[in-house]
Formats: sequence, structure tokens, C-alpha cells
Amino acid sequence: MSDIIHLLPDSVANQIAAGEVIQRPGSALKELIENSMDAGADDIQIILKEAGRALIRVVDNGSGMSEADARMAFERHATSKIATAQDLFALRSFGFRGEALASIAAIAQVEVLSKMSGNDIGTKILIEGSKFIEQSPASCPEGTSIAVKNLFFNVPARRNFLKSNNVELRHCIEEFQRVALTNPTVAFTLYHNDKPVIQLKKGNLKQRIVNLFGGNFDEKIVPVNAETTRIKISGFIGKPQYAKRTKGEQFFFVNGRFIRHPYLNHAVQNAFEDLIPEGSFPSYFIYFEVDPADIDVNIHPTKTEINFLDARLIYSFLRSAVKQAFGKFSITPTLDFNAEQSFTVSPLRPGDSVIPPTVKIDPSYSPFNTSAPDKDQKNKTTGWEQLFSPDRFPGVQQELDVQIPLTDNKEEPIAVSGEENGCATFIQIYNRYIVTPVKSGMMMIDQRKAHQRILYESLMEIFSGSKPGSQQLLFPETLHLSAADTALVTELQNDLQLLGFDMVNAGNNCFMVNGAPADLPQEMVIQTLEKTLEEFKNESGKTTTQRQIKLARAMAKSMAIRDKKKLAPEEMQTLANSLFACSAPENDLDGGKTLQIITVQQLAEMFK
Ligand SMILES: Nc1ncnc2c1ncn2[C@@H]1O[C@H](COP(=O)(O)OP(=O)(O)OP(=O)(O)O)[C@@H](O)[C@H]1O
Ligand SMILES: [Mg+2]
Repeated sequence: MSDIIHLLPDSVANQIAAGEVIQRPGSALKELIENSMDAGADDIQIILKEAGRALIRVVDNGSGMSEADARMAFERHATSKIATAQDLFALRSFGFRGEALASIAAIAQVEVLSKMSGNDIGTKILIEGSKFIEQSPASCPEGTSIAVKNLFFNVPARRNFLKSNNVELRHCIEEFQRVALTNPTVAFTLYHNDKPVIQLKKGNLKQRIVNLFGGNFDEKIVPVNAETTRIKISGFIGKPQYAKRTKGEQFFFVNGRFIRHPYLNHAVQNAFEDLIPEGSFPSYFIYFEVDPADIDVNIHPTKTEINFLDARLIYSFLRSAVKQAFGKFSITPTLDFNAEQSFTVSPLRPGDSVIPPTVKIDPSYSPFNTSAPDKDQKNKTTGWEQLFSPDRFPGVQQELDVQIPLTDNKEEPIAVSGEENGCATFIQIYNRYIVTPVKSGMMMIDQRKAHQRILYESLMEIFSGSKPGSQQLLFPETLHLSAADTALVTELQNDLQLLGFDMVNAGNNCFMVNGAPADLPQEMVIQTLEKTLEEFKNESGKTTTQRQIKLARAMAKSMAIRDKKKLAPEEMQTLANSLFACSAPENDLDGGKTLQIITVQQLAEMFK
């Protein structure tokens, strides 16, 4: 009988390990840049082709590698960074597993050029799918250039799993931003398909943030600084009035490394509570310095998660640090979120006390509850018109003195049956649910879910051919984005155009919005786009398939009336009618129900 247990060949083991460390071009890019940082480089060039699928090349002016080291670097657990387990606990560099290059070389064609400073000649290495192809002397500049070609060329399953180039490019840029934000004194240039996309000069942290996120960031952030014997917090937080509907610029770094930390994110969000409206997100760039012994590193293959030994203490320390930063800069306005520019910073005089912030948020805010549509527009029947017309948008009716059609033009909603006088009775419960008698008993509608369904179907109608009424804006609006969101908007630009958003990339992570759906009030254009992007990112996490479907869902969710919105009886009626004009009135967008019916029999049962 022959033995059946055998060791996996290294190439297979590396492929498996690669699966954990390298999920996509962005993760390979991250590992390469981190290595360059560890090698002490202060000028790094990144060259991407096809969002990194075809090529990721990172060129640095760091220490370089000797002939032998360059070869060794591709062995698993080859690392120059730790020698003993003890070193792990005192770690300040990015690398420690000695696994990244071996993983990358297992699933790509890799070409290394490296020369140590002071040497006359460098070395060149070619490796393909863990197979060593050649090593030869080469003349090259000091430092290291690593080119990763055709990622996943030998793992079709993973290659097929990759998303569109725009999505993958966005991931690359996100990874890049995180490293760039921890190393403002390092110059970076990022090229994509031969075009320079991001150029960052050496500077300080504030300049780096401004360079990455747009010129006007300068006035949008205030410093945060706090220190105890065990922990130091520094960085910047966004002023509340610039909080966005997208989560874009939220960064934690621990000892120079980007991490995710939902719990600490909550601490910041909590410090902003009452200062920003629900559903918006403050920007922050927060840097922790802690004794490496106080954190648990190495709990996650991509090294973005970390455990603090005393997370609860850090939570409250962080929260008060953020609040203190507001106090120092006297961010104590009466905030009117819609009037962004009204906010000014007035420095505190000695002896002044900090007045707790008071907030004015319109609780009945609804995107639809705005001015009446332009009269001239009334006779056009475009897709957007329907979307924003009184039939579709119950909220508008309160302000419009118009005859409300009892039913949608398509079909009489069967479930909403009239009372004797032909008018159904609608009751709103908890400003959230609509209750009305129907033939079979009693119907309850979730107003927000219902409205989402209505909007979604209208948007899908537009995608399937009905023309939206786009209107040139009197003054173009500017949409300021992070580099990652810029990539996202680029990805969505054609579809947004179909929906009536006429946008031009103005460079510097800005889009000029020149035109918008005819009935979307100008002051809602930017916030609608921002909220939609945020929702779209949430959608992206789900399994749903098509981009247009995701976009329609995202936009519907961002525009739907909220819970806690009081509705007039006619508005409820219109909502119900519009709902029953939908092709799938009962289904909400997330697999649940928009409505429930309790039948007369069920009622009778209840009273037995
Ligand atoms: N750009 C570079 N310049 C100089 N040396 C490098 C460079 N890239 C890699 N190396 C050398 O190759 C070794 C292996 O790199 P690799 O990324 O695989 O492991 P690591 O950085 O030590 O740990 P990790 O797997 O956590 O990234 C490094 O320890 C370093 O000595
Ligand atoms: Mg490394």
C-alpha cells in the first residue's frame, strides 16, 4: 500500500497562501509599496496597466537588494525584518511575514531589478508562477523596481473573480491612499495606462491630505491631538458642516499602518453626534501611536485588523480628543446642514467657555418636500418628470395646490379599495407605517420601503429607454470626491448620464455637474449624488449583479422618504396608488416586504 500523505509542492503552498494575502491587484500593490517604504525609499513611482491586471510596477529609490537577497526574497518566510518571535512584538515596519513576494510570484510573472547603493551593477530576476526563470547582472538605478505582470495568469478562477477595471482601479487607489497618508514625506507618482493620475510631492500631513482630497480640504479640517503615557492621538478631523453622505475619507492608522476599527469609528461618530445629520459621515485622519506591546498584530492576513488590549479606554479617550478638537476651534455653530457656507470659525477668547453645540436639523426633511416644479415643465412627461411629479412624490403635494389624481394612470390599485364614498381611509402609524382597509382585510405599508420600490422601478424604466428630462444647471455644481470615489463616479458616469446627470471630470478629484434631472431641485443635486454613491458602495458588498440595477437601488434608497416623515392623507393615497402601479409592489428592495395584509379571518382569529 502506498502512502497517501505527501507534502504540497512549494508552488502549490504559495498559491494557497497567495489567496489569503493577494485577493486582487490592489492587494499586490499594497504589499509592493509597503516593501518600498520598509526599504527607506522617499520617492516611489507606481505604474499600472489595466487597473493592475496587466501590470503593476513599483519603482523605488530605497536600499536595494544584494544579488543573494533578491533571490531569497521570493522564498516563503524570507524576511529581513524579524529574526525571533520576540521581534514581532516590537514591530514598527510593514512587513513581518516574509510572505508577500512569494505569494505574488506564485500567481504572476515577476521581474525584479535591484541595485544596492554604492554598487556598480544590479541584478535582474525573472520568476513565473513560483518558477525561477533567470537571474542575471543588470545595469539599473539604485533602488528596486518590481514588475508584476498578468496577475492570476495561472489561477483562472481568481482572475474571473476580479471586477471591472474601474472597480479594481478604485481598490488600487484606496490602497495607495492609505500608504500615502502615512508617509507624507515620501513623494509618489501613480500612472494608469501611461497617464499620470496622482502626483504627490513631499510635504507635511496636511499638505498630503489636501493633495489627495482636493484643494478645498485645507479649510475643511482641524487638527486633533491628545496624549497619555500609553497612547498618542494625532491627525485631523473634518469640520461637521463638511460631513458627507459618503464614507470616503475615514482613516485610522496605528503605528503608521492603516487599520479598520468599527468600534473606534463609532467613537468618532459618537463625538460628532448632534453636530451632523443622521446618515452623514465625518472625515477623519486619525493616527494612534501605541506601544506595540499594547496591540495584537498579525490577527489578519492583510494586516488591516488589530486588537487593542484596552479598546474601551481608547474609545473614550478618542471620543473626548475629537470633542476637544471641536472645542479648541470653537465649532459651536447652530448648524444648518443645507446652508453649508454659513459656518464660520470664531476663535475662543481667554475666559470664554465652550458652549455645547446646538443643532438645527429639520426633522421633516425629505428630498421631495421642496419647491413646486417649474410650471413650464409640467406638460412634459419624461421619466424623471414622473419620478418627481406629485403622483410619484407624495411629499410635494403638501405645497402644491393641485388636484391629486386618485389613481395612477396605469391601473387601479386593486388592494386599495374605497369606502362607501369612494375615498379610502389612510392612517399613519408612528410616522412610518400606512394602514388602510382593503377588500380582504387590513393593509399595512412601510412608507419608506414602498417609496424605494416606486423610485426603483421608475429609474429602471429610464434605463430601459424612457428619456429623462435633463436640465442644464444655472450654475454648475462641484462634486468633491476622494480619488477612490472619483474612480467610482468614472465607472458610473455613463449610467448617471442616462439618468440625467451631466458631469465632467474637472481633474483633482472634482466633477462639474452641469446638468441634472429636470425636476431635481438644484440644491439637492450634490447631496443626491453623494448619498447615492454611499448607497452604491453598500450595494457593492451584496451579491446583486448588474451595475444599473445596483445604481437604481442605490439612488432609490438615497432619495426615498424617510421613516418619521409625517404624511398627509392624500400623500398616503398617492403612495399606495403608485406602489400598486409597480410591477412588484409587495417586494422591497432587500428581499423583504413593502406591505403586509391582515385578513378578516385573521382578525377574527385574534378575537377568539
Ligand atoms: N522594494 C524593496 N527594496 C528592498 N528590499 C526589499 C524590497 N521588497 C522586498 N524586499 C526584501 O524582500 C523581503 C521579502 O519581502 P516580503 O514582502 O515578501 O516580506 P516582508 O516584507 O518581510 O513581510 P510581509 O510578508 O509581511 O510583507 C523583505 O524582507 C526585504 O528584505
Ligand atoms: Mg512586505
